[in-house]
Amino acid sequence: YTAELDASDIEKGTYPHFMLKEIDEQPFVMRNIINQYQNENGDLKLDDDIRAAMKEADRVYIIACGTSYHAGLVGKQLIENIANIPVEAHIASEFVYNMPLLSEKPLFIFISQSGETADSRAVLVEVKRLGHKALTITNVPGSTLSREANYTLNLYAGPEIAVASTKAYTAQIAVLAILAVDSARAKGIELDFNPLQELAIVANAMEVLCDQKEEMEKIAREFLAVTRNAFFIGRAADFYVCLEAALKLKEISYIQAEGFAGGELKHGTIALIEDGTPVIALATQEHVNLSIRGNVKEVAARGAYTCVISMDGLQEEGDRVVLPKIHPYLTPLVSVLPMQLISYYAALHRDCDVDKPRNLAKSVTVE
Ligand code: AGP
Repeated sequence: YTAELDASDIEKGTYPHFMLKEIDEQPFVMRNIINQYQNENGDLKLDDDIRAAMKEADRVYIIACGTSYHAGLVGKQLIENIANIPVEAHIASEFVYNMPLLSEKPLFIFISQSGETADSRAVLVEVKRLGHKALTITNVPGSTLSREANYTLNLYAGPEIAVASTKAYTAQIAVLAILAVDSARAKGIELDFNPLQELAIVANAMEVLCDQKEEMEKIAREFLAVTRNAFFIGRAADFYVCLEAALKLKEISYIQAEGFAGGELKHGTIALIEDGTPVIALATQEHVNLSIRGNVKEVAARGAYTCVISMDGLQEEGDRVVLPKIHPYLTPLVSVLPMQLISYYAALHRDCDVDKPRNLAKSVTVE
């Protein structure tokens, strides 16, 4: 595969699929974002109007669909923990029926790779009718959601051709982290977290993981090539990545996959575990590490075929993948990468059309 990637070109080059090329482009996209959101003195560069809108907001509503909604769940955690603003994250197609706006000065953040998703736009139309402010985070400036919002932030991820979103998801989380820090600084909150420096570390870690394709293909072959279902379990931010991992696997390999919060297993879902059921666990969150390790033991005791993906400093004997250590705010940016690759190889083993999965469109412009 070509070493030097130009994230803006729309040819596969030497890649067999756009999805694999776009997974490999993620380190370059991180570096693009660092350059685009950095001013000449190396500080964050964000539009003053956006900074003011975040400062004024007493509540942020994140509205999105699919993978972008999963990025929004991580964004909720980032904005709440860093900028100290209450955030609700909603699936657009559900929120549009029931918009109980319980705050004086809400700010709506629409996350959309295409900027054309009809479900999200339907909410934006209502938000504007109610006279509220909207920011769209998108990979397509000039798209409908970008034009019709008050403000817009670009993902700078380059065209994403594969139906399964990969580089846009990690770009969305990176931009949300930058937005959260900029908002915190505008409110005078002292932080010991510099997103631009941490994103450079993320880019290098992504490159290390992109070089482990053989291991990811082995995991896919071992766990997912012939199974009819698969479970991803995690806690805290790892749970949000498990939701994204399950969507990736479902939409390109057609395996019935689900992402579970580890703590929820005992409330019903562990009944699904049978002999040989594949369970992939994410263990990158130090504060819940013992608990998720306990969940792995519980499902293994019931016959599950377990694979643990952990992080340097938290690894234990038998973990299948150990991710390079990343700032706790940004672990989803690297923990999603093995999941993207494992889903890609599972789909290949099942002779699925990776870039154009059945029944799916890249941009869902109908409600
Ligand atoms: C993601 O892999 C899917 N292709 C799909 O869930 C997508 O994220 C969703 O349709 C939202 O699209 P958007 O980001 O362009 O709004």
